[in-house]
Amino acid sequence: MKITIIGTGYVGLVTGACLAEVGHDVFCLDVDQRKIDILNGGGIPIHEPGLDEVVARNVAAGRLRFSTDVAASVAHGDVQFIAVGTPPDEDGSADLQYVVAAARNIGKHMTSFKVIVDKSTVPVGTADRVSAAIADELKARQSDLDYAVTSNPEFLKEGAAVADFMQPDRLVIGHSSDAQGQRAQQVMCEVYASFEAAGHKIYWMDVRSAEFTKYAANAMLATRISFMNELANLADKVGVDIDAVRQGIGSDPRIGPGFLMAGCGYGGSCFPKDVQALVRTSQEYGHELKILQAVEDVNENQKHVLGSKIFAKYGKDLQGLRFALWGLAFKPDTDDMRAASSRVLIQELLRAGANVVAFDPVAMDEAQRVLALDFADAPELLKQFSFAADQQAVLPDANALVIVTEWKIFRAAELNQIKTCLKQAVIFDGRNLYDPQLVKSLGIEYHAIGRAVLTQN
Ligand code: UDX
Repeated sequence: MKITIIGTGYVGLVTGACLAEVGHDVFCLDVDQRKIDILNGGGIPIHEPGLDEVVARNVAAGRLRFSTDVAASVAHGDVQFIAVGTPPDEDGSADLQYVVAAARNIGKHMTSFKVIVDKSTVPVGTADRVSAAIADELKARQSDLDYAVTSNPEFLKEGAAVADFMQPDRLVIGHSSDAQGQRAQQVMCEVYASFEAAGHKIYWMDVRSAEFTKYAANAMLATRISFMNELANLADKVGVDIDAVRQGIGSDPRIGPGFLMAGCGYGGSCFPKDVQALVRTSQEYGHELKILQAVEDVNENQKHVLGSKIFAKYGKDLQGLRFALWGLAFKPDTDDMRAASSRVLIQELLRAGANVVAFDPVAMDEAQRVLALDFADAPELLKQFSFAADQQAVLPDANALVIVTEWKIFRAAELNQIKTCLKQAVIFDGRNLYDPQLVKSLGIEYHAIGRAVLTQN
């Protein structure tokens, strides 16, 4: 099938490359000439494991191309995926200007029936706005061409996006019940035929329910994390090991084991943005989502949990202290620093006078960029901050090691070596990477999340 992907950001690029991988003829459009130049030069503008190979293979096979030519992109695809950014507005609601602009371009240039697919995470009712924008453009051209707008939300995790796309837990597709909607269903069946044949289930539903499903999924996952974080903070006080509790409850199939890891808070481009957007949507309808408001508040507090533990040990003034920091990205296998807990911690430590030396396997360039913004009001504080070339190099002379991101290489670290290199054998672990009793037996002071009962003397 001929498919156009509008937007070569994270979602668009993965979608385009993976649809080419299953044999479709894919045209990727972006307004950003720099991105298109990188892609046409054989590069990848984002860090995502395995994506470069899929892109290279399909470009070489002639099934995947990149361009800034809007008219050519509309002409190419019978199916037009809209995968442009939906950044949060000042009030937290999703900004749809790029989605609407993409829809207008389709309306301006289309010369045959098109299926438009909303792939970006967009609030309920967006398909109607996309439809109205296309209708508006067609009217201006006095055209009566048919089209159908569908919703096909993505459930990709950064760092595992290619695998998530190729082996989806489920596909959710919303379409209308009128003649165009039914025609669109047939087209979407063809788009995902190889996935269905491989046993991946498609859930067909109306458009609004599909749009809502994406938010509901992320809100549920964020709720689980904040729920466990809140319990972890109580566990520290009442002498309970939150990780034992996690296993105890996760074995109940009604609860399930995933997304119950307590830690120093969730970040990234999806959970914070989607929870806020859903809260905004509810407010627009005069409805209060009490649980989700709390989910967000708990998460904001949780980003301070490591700082609080550090202040509890050393007091509010950290001058003369040096902290080794492992992990900057909001999660492993990505260089994404959006809403990362490390940013909150670094603010607290530097503003309290501490020195911080940090290592992250891939996020250091991005960290440098975002920290310059975070400290725009006090750039001199960044003199207290530096990067090290590897995870060992941050340790010498540090009063403690602080772990913010659960990279595998940190989990596999040699604890005795950490102890030998640090000035003082103290670890603040925001991701519960180690067995507290083992750490304690090695003579290391260990502050984890919700596990104080196993580490106190
Ligand atoms: C998420 C959803 O998982 C994905 O389906 C959706 O399409 C986009 O949002 P992503 O933002 O890439 O994906 O990250 P994810 O792996 O879900 O982790 C999000 C955050 O939650 C990370 O900061 C992670 O450290 C944290 N987390 C995750 C926990 O604190 N505890 C857990 O048990 C799981």
